[in-house]
Amino acid sequence: MDILIAYATTEGQTEKIARFCADRLAARGHRPLLLHVESGGEDMPECGAAILAASVHVGKYQEALENFALRHELRLNARPTVLLAVSLAAAGDDAEEWDDLARIADAFQARSGWRAGRVVQVAGAFRFSKYDFFRRLAMRWIAHQKGQQVDPHGDREYTDWDALGALIDDFADHAA
Ligand SMILES: Cc1cc2nc3c(=O)[nH]c(=O)nc-3n(C[C@H](O)[C@H](O)[C@H](O)COP(=O)(O)O)c2cc1C
Repeated sequence: MDILIAYATTEGQTEKIARFCADRLAARGHRPLLLHVESGGEDMPECGAAILAASVHVGKYQEALENFALRHELRLNARPTVLLAVSLAAAGDDAEEWDDLARIADAFQARSGWRAGRVVQVAGAFRFSKYDFFRRLAMRWIAHQKGQQVDPHGDREYTDWDALGALIDDFADHAA
C-alpha cells in the first residue's frame, strides 16, 4: 500500500520520526511517500493511507502542516489517517500538560477540518545542538524545571522507538 508521511519539523526530531516510520513501512512491504511540507510539499500524492506529523512549539504545530491538512481535508478524511504530535510534554506524566496536548490536537483539527483517525502524542527531544543562544537558555531552564539532566551542547532524546514502531505496524495493518 502507498502510505503518505507528511511532516513538518523545526529542530529535526519529527523528521527523524518520519524517516523511521518510512523505513518501518518499507520493511513490511508498503511504499512510504515521504513529504516535507515545509519545502514545497503542497500537493498530496495518491495514497491509500496517510500519517501526518508535526511538533509542538509554544502550544502549536507548524503552520505548514496545518495548511497542508486544510488544503487536503476532504481527501484525508476519506482515508485511514494518524496524527503524530511530537512534544516534550509527551515525555512526562504531568496531567495538565497532557490536557494541553489534547487541546492543541483538538484545536488543530477544528481549524483544519481534518479529523485524524488516531492522534498519537510522541515524546520528542531536547536538541541543544540546534538551538540559538536564547533558545538554549530557555530550554535549559525547562529541562531544569522538569528535573532533567541535560548536556547544554548535546541532544537528549525521549522518543520511544519500539512503541512507535508497534504503532506504525498496527496502523498499516488496519489500513491495509
Ligand atoms: C522554542 C520551543 C518551544 C517549544 N514549545 C513546546 C511546548 O509548548 N510544549 C511542548 O510539549 N514542547 C515544546 N517544545 C519541545 C518540542 O516540541 C520538542 O523539542 C520536539 O522534539 C521538537 O520537534 P522538532 O525537532 O521536529 O521540531 C518546544 C521546543 C522549542 C525549541
